[in-house]
Amino acid sequence: MKIINCKFSKEQYPVFIGNTVLTDESIWKPYLKGNDIVIITCKQVSNLYLTTLQKTLFTYNPEVIVLDNGEQIKTLEHFNHIINTLLATKHGRKTTLIALGGGSIGDLVGFVASCFLRGVDLIQVPTTLLAQVDSSIGGKNGVNNAYGKNLIGTFYHPKAVFINPNTIATLNHRDFASGLAEVVKYSLIYDNDFYDWLEENIKLINQQHQLIIQEMIYRTIKIKLAIVLEDEYENNKRAICNFGHSFGHAIERFFDYKKYLHGEAVAIGMVIASRLSYQLEHLTIAEVNRLLTLLQQLNLPINLPEKITINKLIELMKTDKKNQHGNFNIVILSNIGMARLWRNITATTLKKHLEQIF
Ligand SMILES: NC(=O)c1ccc[n+]([C@@H]2O[C@H](COP(=O)([O-])OP(=O)(O)OC[C@H]3O[C@@H](n4cnc5c(N)ncnc54)[C@H](O)[C@@H]3O)[C@@H](O)[C@H]2O)c1
Repeated sequence: MKIINCKFSKEQYPVFIGNTVLTDESIWKPYLKGNDIVIITCKQVSNLYLTTLQKTLFTYNPEVIVLDNGEQIKTLEHFNHIINTLLATKHGRKTTLIALGGGSIGDLVGFVASCFLRGVDLIQVPTTLLAQVDSSIGGKNGVNNAYGKNLIGTFYHPKAVFINPNTIATLNHRDFASGLAEVVKYSLIYDNDFYDWLEENIKLINQQHQLIIQEMIYRTIKIKLAIVLEDEYENNKRAICNFGHSFGHAIERFFDYKKYLHGEAVAIGMVIASRLSYQLEHLTIAEVNRLLTLLQQLNLPINLPEKITINKLIELMKTDKKNQHGNFNIVILSNIGMARLWRNITATTLKKHLEQIF
């Protein structure tokens, strides 16, 4: 078992990484205030891991809310549904909400926990690789609406995060690869050595070798925490975590979130952002090609779908939260392992650069 202690300005909590976190009640005990516990999960995860967790927490007799699978639940309608269910079943301020599932469940339940009766305890139990290395860490949550992704949400930390790396064994290969895209992103923006390590261990990563996966999750979380600790409320540095995301979100939205998984769209977005980084004379072409090879070896897409024109891409990018006064802020790489923000770019400048790439 590995434990990472997260110390933020107002909150402090542990992230447990190990194969016994779903079955060892003693690890949970300090984080459960009483018997008012609600596990919120999705259908798929409920079939796989809910019974195990219910057995572990049986003395608390947790209630369960099961939602549909995937991104479609990140809406205000689902937010309302959970709040109404909690109120109808007489839950109060001492309730602890347990988010058991991927990033979609984690983001939605995190948002509910931060708003329900002005905030109740939250425990994150991320079951996808993406949620384990990224969305469950750092306190951001949110839901989507017609204008775009994650436009409604809060910063709200959990009391603890419980990660069993073995849960990724049941993910389908696309969801696994989608999580790997975020892992690659963290190495690209912050840790050159980790990027080399990923390249060296590619075979074992694809085989989901237990120790390698655990190490990979641990190292990625450490990077994310280092970045978030510098800028908890995303005023500056934390924005580099959006590397590839301005383009990725636009691609996801173009297909109404149906064609690409988040990490897949981010992989294509990282390729575009790396090519921009090359054009702006920061990254070498050899480094861009190294990234293309790595992403392909991890079974991730690298090409912008032909259907999306540059004008459309830019139009879709306009609702991105990171924009300022209608201009774009785009994360680019100075080197592998070092990112910076390319600020205040007009649509005309961005278009000119993208036309040279495609
Ligand atoms: N809050 C943040 O900081 C942050 C960071 C990155 C991404 N995100 C968000 O995370 C979301 C994507 O998360 P995701 O990739 O985990 O997708 P997801 O939560 O939609 O899960 C993907 C699919 O995997 C299934 N699943 C979950 N765990 C499983 C398991 N162990 N075995 C088999 N199937 C399993 C789910 O039912 C779902 O169908 C996006 O909405 C994105 O915006 C948030």
